[in-house]
Amino acid sequence: MNILLVGSGGREHALAWKIAASPLVTRLVAAPGNPGMAAQCELREVAATDVAGLVALAREIAADLVVIGPESSVAAGLADAVEAAGFACFGPTAIAGQLESSKAFTKAFCDRYGLPTSAYAVCETAEEAKAALDRFVPPYVIKADGLAAGKGVVIAPERTEAEAAIDDAFGGRFGAAGARVVIEEFLEGEIGSLFALCDGTTSMVFGWAQDHKRAFDGDKGPNTGGMGTYSPAPVFTPQLVAQVRERLAERAFAGIAVDGAPYRGVLFVELMATRDGPKLVEFNARFGDPECQVLMLRLESDLVPYLLACATGQLAGMPEPVWRDEAAVCVVLAAEGYPDAPKAGGEIRGVEADFGADVVVFHAGTKRDGSGTLRAAGGRVLNVCARAPDLRAARDRAYAVVDAIDFPEGFCRRDIGWRALR
Ligand code: GLY
Repeated sequence: MNILLVGSGGREHALAWKIAASPLVTRLVAAPGNPGMAAQCELREVAATDVAGLVALAREIAADLVVIGPESSVAAGLADAVEAAGFACFGPTAIAGQLESSKAFTKAFCDRYGLPTSAYAVCETAEEAKAALDRFVPPYVIKADGLAAGKGVVIAPERTEAEAAIDDAFGGRFGAAGARVVIEEFLEGEIGSLFALCDGTTSMVFGWAQDHKRAFDGDKGPNTGGMGTYSPAPVFTPQLVAQVRERLAERAFAGIAVDGAPYRGVLFVELMATRDGPKLVEFNARFGDPECQVLMLRLESDLVPYLLACATGQLAGMPEPVWRDEAAVCVVLAAEGYPDAPKAGGEIRGVEADFGADVVVFHAGTKRDGSGTLRAAGGRVLNVCARAPDLRAARDRAYAVVDAIDFPEGFCRRDIGWRALR
């Protein structure tokens, strides 16, 4: 099979690593990819939102399957265009992808189809949003409506901070994504990320993990796209998995099909396990980043047949995926200043060393300069991932590799996995 993989982050590097291991693959092309992905793919300089350019590339390589990594491609309508051009595509249409691209859409969707989620208010102006705070108690949860790379969420303990976050969003901090703001009830409980595949009709749970959204140890600091993950996460008891599948994933797939936009791809259910059962925090129309990294380390089955089955309506014939009975940990090495103002250009050394079979260092935001030196080129720069018989061993292994990498202008959290290890 010839596969076109779209995207350039750590999630896409993890997908490339797993796809390249499939005996079904003859050619794997990534657009635009990153320097780390060059070990698994041919790289082509086509942006993830250049829909016409990607359709042309799919044609050029006679793609049997196009795999969409990031939400920006989903929102740009890449799946719509790729399918219209006659290619199989793993990734939802832009309309189905509104489950991620508009929080206001998703809240109304939850009301319509009975998905449990927090109380909320959708606000079109700063004045309206500030007045709506009266209906909530602290801490206040302020979210930009649109896509903001995980950075459009502020949890404000005080009203003055909440009002400042509202002013920031309407003042253009998140561009068009902040033209509308959603205020939400703060949910008490433990966070979790569950993944479900769907081919438009049939769905299947496809692993779970726990992320660490705040920038600093102890869950302090600003929200980020995710600073580290581990899988499996003990919060996912069999009962919680069953509840999330039935109350959130299956209701979402059924509802979006009734809306006329059957879902093909992976749905990332970010949930809070509360005393009243799981409640939706948000949906994402793609694999989590860095959740995908730990899932790929634990996935024993070949990934490619699952991706193809989603794209071609064949999921009903697929067996449950097989997961290694081991733990995986991902530690994100970010550039100083992330998430607000990550410092670009920091030199990185020591990534190419052989760390052993159960360690993979995925590139998330790197580039090579003219002399071939690897440098930071994004907020989240590297994802150091390790697999071991238990979580403690996987975590220790990952941090040993973090310490062996020389990236003076980077930082990481030192407490990934703390909830499971406390
Ligand atoms: N790690 C959270 C996300 O991918 O949005």
